[in-house]
Amino acid sequence: GTTSLGSEIVGVINKLQDVFSAVGSSASQIDLPQICVLGSQSSGKSSVLENLVGRDFLPRGTGIVTRRPLVLQLINRKATSTQQNGTTAKVDGDDPAANADEWGEFLHLPGEKFYDFGKIRAEIVRDTEAKTGKNAGISPQPINLRIYSPNVLTLTLVDLPGLTKVPVGDQPRDIEKQIKDMLLKYISKPACIILAVTAANTDLANSDGLKLAREVDPEGQRTIGVLTKVDLMDAGTDVVDILAGRIIPLRLGYVPVVNRGQRDIDTNKAISVALEYERQFFENHSSYKGKAQYCGTPFLARKLNVILMAHIRATLPDIKARISQQLQKFNSELQSLGGALGDGNSANIVLSVITEFCSEFRTVIDGNTNDLSLNE
Ligand code: GDP
Ligand code: NA
Ligand code: MG
Repeated sequence: GTTSLGSEIVGVINKLQDVFSAVGSSASQIDLPQICVLGSQSSGKSSVLENLVGRDFLPRGTGIVTRRPLVLQLINRKATSTQQNGTTAKVDGDDPAANADEWGEFLHLPGEKFYDFGKIRAEIVRDTEAKTGKNAGISPQPINLRIYSPNVLTLTLVDLPGLTKVPVGDQPRDIEKQIKDMLLKYISKPACIILAVTAANTDLANSDGLKLAREVDPEGQRTIGVLTKVDLMDAGTDVVDILAGRIIPLRLGYVPVVNRGQRDIDTNKAISVALEYERQFFENHSSYKGKAQYCGTPFLARKLNVILMAHIRATLPDIKARISQQLQKFNSELQSLGGALGDGNSANIVLSVITEFCSEFRTVIDGNTNDLSLNE
């Protein structure tokens, strides 16, 4: 759908990746950012990621549900099974949204394709329990899942266990430190965009996610505040002061969202229905009415797109330099062979195509970036 992460710029990124794969593998290492969720246990991290992807597949719920990092690689892949009437071919299974163009594959189950996203969730639960037991144990060993779909941007999202202080079940006594160390490994990377998730019905000043984000990103260059459970706030209270930067200001700001509640999960409420409920919630709420376009999952997805664009724009000169270096090397190798394998001009032609592409790409990015300031 139009609200899921990346739909606006997916064409641009794919074009960029096509150019890179055409010029050879060593130039194709684009340092695309990873998006990590950070926050207290049950603050709504898995729910936020799932809404961004637009499909139901992550275990969610009260208590410590996410007990190992889930490294989720979204891979854009052109639709192949589009039928004449424009709909996609259905595949068998219990998942009503299943179709032949979208599937998941686990690194630990090579070659096995999951078309039913409910079965993806079941496998995440099964493998988590296999490695950590059933009694709330945690492990830094990641689960690697790839999702192939025509509706996603090629991008990596990481679902992480929540910050917690008091050990339960089989958890080690130093659970707080173990989880913190696990999270730091991911969020310390400069290319990591941090979604610092805080439930709106808790005190922002005590937000573990924001505190840890500040340790690795003190200037707030790559931290977005996400306020969940806005629907659960006491009547008469709202997050307007937080959004206005009057409580704990964040350079990239905050986005309030409404995810599915536990009852919605228990009754299998569809993501599309939940997103429509979220839209109506913000549009009809007296506190958010006037700024509903800056609230909710679709706005969070757009904001992430803008940040991704800025990241790619910043790395373009470097990518171009690397390609041009490679071509020069190639060219002089050809010269030393007496040009016997071809003429040196073909390298120049490739280079000018790339230069042209980069400026075209820049125009697209600027067009998108102008829509949306990062500091509304
Ligand atoms: P995580 O532990 O941070 O990954 O949190 P989950 O995504 O598993 O969510 C924990 C619980 O909070 C689940 O029961 C969700 O249904 C519920 N939840 C998350 N976000 C919201 C929200 O915005 N509104 C409501 N009402 N419940 C939410
Ligand atoms: Na949870
Ligand atoms: Mg979770």
